[in-house]
Amino acid sequence: MVEIKSDKQIEKMKLAGTILAECHKALSKMILPGITTTEIDQFVERFLHERGAKPEQKGYMGYPFATCSSVNNEVCHGLPNRKPLKNGDILTVDFVVNLDGWLADSAWSYGVGKIAPESQRLLNATKKALYKGIEHAQPGNRIGDIGYAIETYANKKGYSIVREFIGHGIGRKIHEEPQVHHVGERNSGIKLKEGMVITIEPIFNQGLPFITMGSDGWTALTFDGSLSAQYEHTVAITRNGPIILTEQA
Ligand code: MF3
Ligand code: CO
Repeated sequence: MVEIKSDKQIEKMKLAGTILAECHKALSKMILPGITTTEIDQFVERFLHERGAKPEQKGYMGYPFATCSSVNNEVCHGLPNRKPLKNGDILTVDFVVNLDGWLADSAWSYGVGKIAPESQRLLNATKKALYKGIEHAQPGNRIGDIGYAIETYANKKGYSIVREFIGHGIGRKIHEEPQVHHVGERNSGIKLKEGMVITIEPIFNQGLPFITMGSDGWTALTFDGSLSAQYEHTVAITRNGPIILTEQA
């Protein structure tokens, strides 16, 4: 069952999403060579607490941190650590904000210092794919329309899509129905309805789509060592079309 949210509930999620977006905005200025992902994690935790919000990922299924921090060939769920980031790295920071019991989830990829043109191209394409997917999050469409739009764009740009991690419904829990695949067929899957709130969070790899799990039990890595990027928004499906609850100003 996909839970339908009222306008009022979506408003509450939007408040959580605004804090999340403002925090990403602050990160975009802080992420420079020399900073560690532990420092980023601690900044996020403090930022949320100052706004009266909580980092929902901390303690979720035993996950110990506020953020997931995935560098270069790390696909997702990387653990913050004390290794300084280097010029040319790419970093994805993913976290979930809980404000008064309502959640918002957004991941963003950042270049560290001056990055290679191929890295920038990967970031641009992955972000663009997210927005292509969001365009199709309309009442009356089907969930496969979102995956189809993202998959078509990845093919056009020459990137592969990680299949193991998918978007999801979200509300008072991080992971609700439905599953949101980033590949798909047009006009397939459940019908999208007003009041559904979902995440769309494509992960693009430069090389093969395959992943392997790191020895820490959390971090997913590209199988071939190629770079990987991810962008994620929380999106409400409304009579006026998709509303991005985690949009950065
Ligand atoms: N934010 C992630 C998502 O998009 C959830 C990460 S769960 C954690 O689904 F346990 F790794 F934090
Ligand atoms: Co997320």
